[in-house]
Amino acid sequence: MEERIISARQSAEDAMEVSLRPRYLHEYIGQSRVKENLKVYIEAAKMRREALDHVLLHGPPGLGKTTLSTIIANELGVQIRTTSGPAIERPGDLAAILTNLQPGDLLFIDEIHRLHRSVEEVLYSAMEDFALDIVIGKGPSARSIRLDLPPFTLVGATTRAGALSSPLRDRFGVVCRLEYYTVEELTQIVLRTAELLGMPIRTEGAREIAVRSRGTPRVANRLLKRVRDFVQVKGDDVITLEAARDALDRIQVDKMGLDQVDHKLLMSIMEKFRGGPVGLETIAATIGEEAQTVEDVYEPYLMQIGFLERTPRGRVVTPRCYQHFGMEMPR
Ligand SMILES: Nc1ncnc2c1ncn2[C@@H]1O[C@H](COP(=O)(O)OP(=O)(O)OP(=O)(O)O)[C@@H](O)[C@H]1O
Ligand SMILES: [Mg+2]
Repeated sequence: MEERIISARQSAEDAMEVSLRPRYLHEYIGQSRVKENLKVYIEAAKMRREALDHVLLHGPPGLGKTTLSTIIANELGVQIRTTSGPAIERPGDLAAILTNLQPGDLLFIDEIHRLHRSVEEVLYSAMEDFALDIVIGKGPSARSIRLDLPPFTLVGATTRAGALSSPLRDRFGVVCRLEYYTVEELTQIVLRTAELLGMPIRTEGAREIAVRSRGTPRVANRLLKRVRDFVQVKGDDVITLEAARDALDRIQVDKMGLDQVDHKLLMSIMEKFRGGPVGLETIAATIGEEAQTVEDVYEPYLMQIGFLERTPRGRVVTPRCYQHFGMEMPR
């Protein structure tokens, strides 16, 4: 399937744009509650010369979890070691990572809900006591030894906090939920990125991109780059409101940031299922995606804008959604 332009998932192109990432808290736009709290905890940890308590960052894709983890390390002035849940295959892999940390270092585990069970169990004592319990040998002669670890900060990121086991979740002292960004915040992000890219832009142009970015900085940055392509090919040298509107219409991202896949998803519920309720599996089948993906990636934004609701009997499309598509609601 072709990668969606409004996908909040990271693409190969995004990954190269490391330079667009804010490096310190004051450059990080929005999420003010999370920022204020982190600022205090970081300050306090520095005053006490201790490792910061473990931090769990959760929220939909593309809202800035990875960015925030790097910022926390920068603010603490410590090194960051980055890995991901599925990448740590055996307890030994985790042990190797942990024993190589310097005191105070930050270990970032992305997609922490995908940790293997056996690895997760080793992590418990590492997080709680800064110690590793390792079993040596097999059978009756097997014995367990305890290895001391340097104090460290674990930062875990996940799009599915609900999928975390409770013993793991309970070991995070700081839990931050990232929220979708407002249009004002996204406008600031687009203006900032345009400046970094050296592309002149009017505030109204930035706002138009922000409005269609589904509350997500990653989408905002990507739409900005596509709009820039259209503007430059046309021979213009600034992104105006008209230019932004024109380009976004051409790439078929509508006024609410919905693309063809969203249209297909919502239209099929309205046309084939009289607005629902309809099961997740059925919805997934109509757009040829996995149910899990529909639930984690497609639905959160549609629910955020009040187009879709989850009910015990299935998904239901709202009057607002009918309105957006100019359709009559069935009685
Ligand atoms: N608060 C922000 N201010 C400015 N830019 C931001 C902000 N948050 C995120 N970005 C930009 O959005 C992009 C996506 O952010 P990031 O990769 O941190 O998201 P993520 O939550 O880790 O996503 P995923 O769940 O896919 O791992 C980054 O390239 C970054 O430049
Ligand atoms: Mg990430």
